[in-house]
Amino acid sequence: MAVLEAQEVTAGYGDAVIVERISVKVEAGEIVAVVGPNGSGKSTFLKSLLGLVRRFCGRILFEGRDITAFPAWRIARAGIGYVPQVNNVFPNLSVVENLQMGAYFRQDKGGIQADCSEILEMFPELKRRSRFRAETLSGGERQLLAIGRALMGRPQVLLLDEPLAFLSPKTAALILRQLAAIKERGIGLLLVEQKTFLALEAADYGYLLSEGRCLMEGRGSALLADASLRERFLGLRKEV
Ligand SMILES: Nc1ncnc2c1ncn2[C@@H]1O[C@H](COP(=O)(O)OP(=O)(O)OP(=O)(O)O)[C@@H](O)[C@H]1O
Ligand SMILES: [Mg+2]
Repeated sequence: MAVLEAQEVTAGYGDAVIVERISVKVEAGEIVAVVGPNGSGKSTFLKSLLGLVRRFCGRILFEGRDITAFPAWRIARAGIGYVPQVNNVFPNLSVVENLQMGAYFRQDKGGIQADCSEILEMFPELKRRSRFRAETLSGGERQLLAIGRALMGRPQVLLLDEPLAFLSPKTAALILRQLAAIKERGIGLLLVEQKTFLALEAADYGYLLSEGRCLMEGRGSALLADASLRERFLGLRKEV
């Protein structure tokens, strides 16, 4: 059973439909990428799964359970982690405080402490700076912190909005290695990315969005090999 499944989701803002009939499946321990150019509706789609934008129709299943009608706070507590595209850390709080914020709905103090230590072990870049304010971190460190904060909610599935944006190739590779490590823990990952090549290379399965519709789907490697997709969206080269 898929850990998260969107069935024919149509969503947008006010009366405006932005994404139409999008169906996506994420299994446990799998990386799924939704790729597409600027404005294709990637963030809107992700937010539609989180109850953050208006949904016109479609269903969302989490571990087989219909959560379509759940409010955003209940979706977060159910086990769906979210790393937003912007403003994803609290700049004035320290690294450790940011991580603790990710556990805001948990009561198990000991567990929170243990998870915080574990995440700092996973991300040595953060451990070195655990007492520093988040605003002093580099872009890559901030992204790791945002991912760590989301992990503090103990999600079964993690939704990431352009985790590779604005990062150097070296830092993007570091983030992708960490995402692979998270996948190894059996967590499902759904990332939306504009860096099509890197995302599909890392993904087990991918979907291509264009103007709010899904044009193509398939194994990451199969999409990468697709000539028409390469021509239209990949520019036949790896982005930097
Ligand atoms: N709050 C909003 N109200 C109205 N329209 C919006 C809102 N947010 C986004 N849109 C519109 O929805 C469309 C898709 O935007 P979205 O942010 O989902 O695209 P995206 O694929 O995430 O783009 P990017 O790669 O630049 O992040 C755009 O035309 C945008 O103008
Ligand atoms: Mg976006």
